[in-house]
Amino acid sequence: MALLLLLVMLTVCAALPQDMSGKMFTFPEESDTDYVRLTTSRQSLSTLTVCLRTFTDLNRDHTPFSLATPGVFNDFVIYRYAESNEFSMNVRDKAVRFRELDYKPNTWHSLCSTWDSVSGVLQVWLDGKPSSRKYISSGSNITGPMIIVLGQEQDSYGGGFDAKQSFVGMMSDVHMWDYTLSPCQIQRYTNRESFPSGNVLDWKASFQTFGRVLIEDQQGDCLL
Ligand SMILES: *[C@@H]1O[C@H](CO)[C@@H](O)[C@H](O)[C@H]1NC(C)=O
Repeated sequence: MALLLLLVMLTVCAALPQDMSGKMFTFPEESDTDYVRLTTSRQSLSTLTVCLRTFTDLNRDHTPFSLATPGVFNDFVIYRYAESNEFSMNVRDKAVRFRELDYKPNTWHSLCSTWDSVSGVLQVWLDGKPSSRKYISSGSNITGPMIIVLGQEQDSYGGGFDAKQSFVGMMSDVHMWDYTLSPCQIQRYTNRESFPSGNVLDWKASFQTFGRVLIEDQQGDCLL
């Protein structure tokens, strides 16, 4: 019981906002228990951009990013079908697939996605290069308290994880905006030049880690 209390206290302490500049999350094993939960006070989004960087060698399905609201578990999800080299993007429980993006294993990639509820069009940007623009969902906003999870796919609000969809690897620089970034802003994010920090989530977000997720220094190039 005392141990449980200690664990609960440790978890609560870990929820304080932390500046993650120069840091990354390492997800070192396949599991249905290891993940990061991010929080935002926002309760409505009609337009958004999400950007993050990933490094993995997974050749099975996996989910770096999933956003659920109480009624819509796939309100915004980035899902990778590694075997067929496709990304499946989900908005408001709808899905659309993007084929043949150049997502190599064992390489850092910058992945951004934009969506707006007026046109309903979603686009993926991999390492600053655009995908086709595809219709996914229009006329309704993402509304309600959002649970944002890195490393697992939510099949219920805040849970329902499947180890076979978990992310294994490293992830950094997770940002989310309530507008669509321009192609030039996405380019600057990709090149690690100056860009506006996410106004829904930035890399100083409040987050909690669960299970075996490590916060480590990003492994940059040696400056000789
Ligand atoms: C979605 O949000 C926008 C901006 O807050 C608002 O103008 C619009 O009416 C909302 N749409 C719906 C369907 O609620």
